[in-house]
Amino acid sequence: MKQLDLLGNLRRTHYCGELRAEHVGQRVVVCGWVHRRRDHGGVVFVDLRDRTGLGQVVFKPDASPEAHARADVIRSEYVLVVCGVLERRADDAINPNLPTGEVELIADELRIVNFATPPPFPLEDDAPVEESTRMRYRAHDLRRAVMQRRLELRHRLHQSLRAACVEDGFLEIETPILTRATPEGARDFLVPSRLHPGSFFALPQSPQIIKQLLMVAGYDRYFQIARCFRDEDLRADRQLEFSQLDLEMSFVGVEDVLEVLEEITARAFREVLDVELARPFPRLSYDESMARYGTDRPDTRIELEIVDLTDAVADCEFKVFSGAVKSGGLVRALPVPKADEVSRGELDRLVALAQEWGAKGLAWIRVADDGSWQSPIAKFLSDDEREAIASRANLEPGHLIFFMADRESVVCDVLARLRSELGHRLGRVADRPWEPLFVLDFPVFTQDDDGKITYMHMPFVAPREEDIGRIRSHPLEIRSTHYDLVMNGIELGSGSLRNHRSDLQLEIFEVLGYAEASARERFGFLLDALDSGAPPHGGFAFGLDRLALLMAGGESLRDVIAFPKTQRAQDLFMQAPGQVDPDQLRDLGLRLRRKPDPAQDPGDS
Ligand code: AMO
Ligand code: AMP
Repeated sequence: MKQLDLLGNLRRTHYCGELRAEHVGQRVVVCGWVHRRRDHGGVVFVDLRDRTGLGQVVFKPDASPEAHARADVIRSEYVLVVCGVLERRADDAINPNLPTGEVELIADELRIVNFATPPPFPLEDDAPVEESTRMRYRAHDLRRAVMQRRLELRHRLHQSLRAACVEDGFLEIETPILTRATPEGARDFLVPSRLHPGSFFALPQSPQIIKQLLMVAGYDRYFQIARCFRDEDLRADRQLEFSQLDLEMSFVGVEDVLEVLEEITARAFREVLDVELARPFPRLSYDESMARYGTDRPDTRIELEIVDLTDAVADCEFKVFSGAVKSGGLVRALPVPKADEVSRGELDRLVALAQEWGAKGLAWIRVADDGSWQSPIAKFLSDDEREAIASRANLEPGHLIFFMADRESVVCDVLARLRSELGHRLGRVADRPWEPLFVLDFPVFTQDDDGKITYMHMPFVAPREEDIGRIRSHPLEIRSTHYDLVMNGIELGSGSLRNHRSDLQLEIFEVLGYAEASARERFGFLLDALDSGAPPHGGFAFGLDRLALLMAGGESLRDVIAFPKTQRAQDLFMQAPGQVDPDQLRDLGLRLRRKPDPAQDPGDS
């Protein structure tokens, strides 16, 4: 077996990536991993890597025959401690692409403090590596400079947010991870209790109720970088376990909270990216956002807007349109100017895409250079209808306009996706890198697919004061105090004022279908707390992973989380979830009704 060296009394004097011309002549000790090793006819060059970057180490026989001889066994990712004198490189050897490219360390002592198995993939930023491989060998993946930069940026983001909250008088208070199931929209993760067989803790979907209790308890301003757990189907912008910058304030109105959010966000962009966000952040009502963009988290940089044509085509001969209107649906359209480059083949692909998104079809009209309409549906439209469409959508030669007729939710969803798809495909995204936006005036309630009234965000959101008298009579019309912070089409966070009076909270539970007795049974702990002297309060939670992704760049939240779950909700590095000992199950009073599926074992994938 090859002999490893001890660290002994050698201690690092400099980080590899920090070596500069000003250190020339100094004796330095650097520590790190072998990024690359090259043998140039008797002289061995090693790029040594640590968190700060790469530094070049040179082993020459005349500087130290012993170190030079040892350098022979060095391989990629070996862990070294190297001692020597820093020299300026010969002019023709200077590497202008490397911050340390002017200097090199002439080694006179080498300690190989650990060997390393060959890396499973090259640790270069641009090496194409399957994501599952990156996740399986996460320690290697995290050694890559791009990941180190992203996690370092995320660290700075956390520090900036934390400092902003502390300076603004917020107290950092931890809240429990073992808690009980609360209605926040997603599926809970359950943890069986050993001491109370048959009972379960739930992991928090967010510390929502607990932070409200802190306000009841008089802490006035609370914040926390909180871990949240939601058993959801994963998408690029969702994880099972994610972080929020969670905060809550007492004796505030909507404007007070928005002011704090704007301040915290602007400060983070300044401190982390050196970017000054334009303030005040623009605002948009939920209704306007849905009407113009089809979504409550619009990327307002995309220069395309939806128009409503429901009344213009309500009686038209084209049954798809008039029929949709008769059955209570809508007809809306997305006009796209200067769309000559969209070929006929591409049109067919867009229609197919819309169908994948749930559309029954996607009618379109192309306005030719002579102003005539090319379209599968033009023949069904009267002159008046044509005129109404043309003036509502400002149609000119070169325009393409896409129509959706369906229930409002489907129309909005499909046109929003189409807007985003075409905006990016045709380069209609304005050159404004950061566009924050508050979306306000959401409804309190909405209807589920069966027409049953349900809450839009969660049951604790306060209605606007002027709507309080109409909760029972016109539930679907009342507006809430909920607000979202959106940037570049991403929902960065949400919040609201809360119901601090139990009578109001009970009224909302009642509309949601809980009579007082059952509301008290399920939410008695909250109602009792409200009755014990709850101040008016409200708050917000930033999705920290999304904010970090927006700032750091990357493909998915997995690029800004050190140890994320894969698309299949597994941790391939720790090989979780995994099976447990039958004894553990017995202690918990549990028996498996389904045998674990070995194909689902992350160890095998
Ligand atoms: P909400 O459920 O909107 O509000 O969550 C706040 C923000 O958290 C982020 N987020 C997620 N990020 C990654 N993966 C997920 N699965 C995920 N789910 C949500 C989003 C979202 O905007 N208690 C309330 C906040 C409040 O009212 O104070 C709450 O949790 O960016
Ligand atoms: P069809 O009558 O189904 O052949 O459709 C005629 C045209 O209308 C085609 O271009 C379809 O893509 C389009 N279409 C069908 N259903 C809808 C709908 N719900 N909304 C918008 N366009 C539709």
